[in-house]
Amino acid sequence: MNDRADAATSVIHLVDYRAPAWHVEHVELDFDLGIDRTDVVAKLDLRRMANEPLRLNGEGLELLSVSVDGRQLGPNDYILGNGTLEIAIDVDRCVVETRVGLRPAENTALEGLYLSGSRDTGFLLTQCEAEGFRHITFFPDRPDVLSKYTVTLRADRERFPVLLAGGNPDGEGELEGGRHWARFVDPHPKPSYLFALVAGRLARISQDYTTADGRPVALHIWAEADVIDRCHYAMDSLVRSMRWDEETYGRNYDLDVFHVVATHDFNMGAMENKGLNIFNAKYLLADADSGTDDEYRHVEAVVAHEYFHNWSGNRVTCRDWFQLSLKEGLTVFREQSFSADMNSAPLKRIEDVALLRRAQFPEDAGPLSHPVRPAEYSEINNFYTATVYEKGSELVRMLAGRLGKDGFRRGMDLYFERNDGDAATIEDFLSALGEANDIDLTPYLAWYGQAGTPRLSASGQYDADARRYTLKLRQRTPAGPGQAEKRSLPIPVKLALFATDGRMLPLKLRDGTGPVDTELTVVIDQAEATYVFDDVDVAPVPSLLRGFSAPVILEFDYAPDELAVLLQHDVDGFNRWEAGQQLAALAYDDLRDGKQDSAAVTAWTGALATLFGNEAIDDALLAELLTPPGEIELVERQAERDPDRIRATRKSLLAALASRIGASKLRQRYQSLHARTTGALDAQSQAARQLKRRMLDLIAAVDESDARTLALAQYNEAPGMTDRLAALTILATTSTDGAAASIAHFRERYADNALALDKWFAVQAQLPGDDALARVQALERDATFTLRNPNRVQALIGLFARANPTGFHRADGAAYRWLAERLVTLDGLNPQVAARVATAFNGWKRLEPVRREAAHAVVAELAGRSDLSRDLTDILGRVAL
Ligand code: PHE
Ligand code: ZN
Repeated sequence: MNDRADAATSVIHLVDYRAPAWHVEHVELDFDLGIDRTDVVAKLDLRRMANEPLRLNGEGLELLSVSVDGRQLGPNDYILGNGTLEIAIDVDRCVVETRVGLRPAENTALEGLYLSGSRDTGFLLTQCEAEGFRHITFFPDRPDVLSKYTVTLRADRERFPVLLAGGNPDGEGELEGGRHWARFVDPHPKPSYLFALVAGRLARISQDYTTADGRPVALHIWAEADVIDRCHYAMDSLVRSMRWDEETYGRNYDLDVFHVVATHDFNMGAMENKGLNIFNAKYLLADADSGTDDEYRHVEAVVAHEYFHNWSGNRVTCRDWFQLSLKEGLTVFREQSFSADMNSAPLKRIEDVALLRRAQFPEDAGPLSHPVRPAEYSEINNFYTATVYEKGSELVRMLAGRLGKDGFRRGMDLYFERNDGDAATIEDFLSALGEANDIDLTPYLAWYGQAGTPRLSASGQYDADARRYTLKLRQRTPAGPGQAEKRSLPIPVKLALFATDGRMLPLKLRDGTGPVDTELTVVIDQAEATYVFDDVDVAPVPSLLRGFSAPVILEFDYAPDELAVLLQHDVDGFNRWEAGQQLAALAYDDLRDGKQDSAAVTAWTGALATLFGNEAIDDALLAELLTPPGEIELVERQAERDPDRIRATRKSLLAALASRIGASKLRQRYQSLHARTTGALDAQSQAARQLKRRMLDLIAAVDESDARTLALAQYNEAPGMTDRLAALTILATTSTDGAAASIAHFRERYADNALALDKWFAVQAQLPGDDALARVQALERDATFTLRNPNRVQALIGLFARANPTGFHRADGAAYRWLAERLVTLDGLNPQVAARVATAFNGWKRLEPVRREAAHAVVAELAGRSDLSRDLTDILGRVAL
């Protein structure tokens, strides 16, 4: 199934792109559905575009028959092999019909047509992005072939009462022998990766919606009966998303029905199939008893993301997979803007940048580094990365910032208008945005083609006599795989100047245009640039890269008390938080180097102790400010990493903060928050829970037994999962043995809730220390653990490898060897998931020498095998370099 034989297959290059030789104008698909066996008849209405034989992709298909214009072909009339069916055809238009057999129940890779759940009660569904359609039928399986689809499903009525496919319903009826059928017609041409079907026993919730342009739409969310009650929040989120896209981008939905389906068996987060979104249950279900506040936000965001794809991805799709960020970066940006509008904008920005730093910066600093638009790939599934998604979104944000709100909207209107019904490129995107505004955006193309996180170094000089402040900026992007020389990029730097009393200074930029303001954006597009500000009456503290105006690493030699000024006074919520993060990082460096009472430690703890008493700061922002960078981000500050030292130093950082604020004040705050805790979902209640969790963490840093007492009570009285999980985490982290009763209770209480059980695995997978591996191995033996379910694999194995630095990177290398064994087994079942987990080896080269040796041995051994999937082989090959 996973073409292991030719795993070391060819590399595909962007420069080799050629338009398709044949178009499929219309496709008629006929499914005879069964769990063990499904037959698919495909009738392709073909039109020649170039003088070449017809080549259809097809993998793992049992070919039963093939005909051209009604004439059956014999085995000598075509060439079948290497994933393609080749037919020499001498007319310019023809109808090719194939009949193939599939075996859904044997499909553990969850790509193509597969079974979710058990043979007796589960349902059938498809996943086609990126190249899954070729596992369903023979087809030119590439995104620049857009076709109209007519799909007929036939199945046993009892076993498959619900039959769904993308498009509008076009009839249904009974068949002999207890069977039934349903037909769907999609009037919008689409690429094969957006095809989907679902068949089985599913319950639904529904709502009527009318679009701004007056189209009535029936919204349906489908899930297995035991979880359908947990879909209401997703429905609300869907309605909010639809309205928002109408109001913000003038985009209306374009079919009569919109289906969303939840499955527990899914490789990714969710999928935007036209008219039939399919979701990993993790991003669709949310209920008061088992959903955390974070999960509610994720559901809202992912529902919006998939819905927004209907325009950014579906109506305008990608010419080839190199352009993946055209739809993903743009859609993440739209999703982030939506979430910012629905919730708190500065907090959203903090969350997004924190994610970028945790996931994308390390990716871009290691052997898997690649540009937002890669130039080559051997397995496209491995390019659904933080770089394509999160950095891609940052690039769109820069463009949007450059054009301003109205200009960006004008540009987007033109982009949609010009490319509607088509497959587009990044160039098409930039030219539409640019032309609508008469601005040349081509310099920004360099951002798409160049990997690595740029360093922006800044230095400032104040001349008191001349009342002049001179700011120097320099940029440099480090070399990376395949890119030794890097170019200068256009980097927008939004900035302000503060007096030490917190006043914002007017910015009189020499040679500047526009009115004098207290904030402005300069764009540095050369290696170096100098900016002179006149009439500056005091030595200023610069606030740079406000709102994180570009995805770069800013280097400015701040004195601790300068950062403290920004932390106290910056009105840009993001930069205020950022100043705290920078200051915490300086404090961290000092503590690591044994300087207990350094200026940075004092400034950081002092500023936060002051803010702690400031009633005007909202609870959620305070909670963020009180959270220093995590172990994974701090890793980036060390030349050579020793996870044990990093963890220990971070702990003393927390302890310094907690003792500066004072245990009794922390406790008081905890108590007052606790007293008003409910399970309510409004922003204030969520913020209170978040701050309460910070209090508990800080108390634990100075008085573990007190924290445990509070956490135990919190666990037992918790009105919802946020409080319960936070308490369980504190209990288990401070004393795993002491938490045994609560851990057992949780397991019992949520025995029937797969997503809650994932959290149970996840908490334990992240517990630090020497016995972490043994704990994970014991959890593998739990009756509910299985390598066949991606969520479960990620919860235990994925989180252990990626989010438990001290546990995974133990010095003797035992966890590396254990992971290697699991990867091989997992690869036999699900190559995509195996490849994703294997990215945990990304940073091995920068480990301290003992661990580096141990990791290298394991990676080299794995990379040398010839029996692994293309997915895993690709990751290992790049990581081992
Ligand atoms: N296109 C999906 C999204 O970002 C992600 C996805 C990719 C899902 C590949 C499944 C397979 O919305
Ligand atoms: Zn997406």
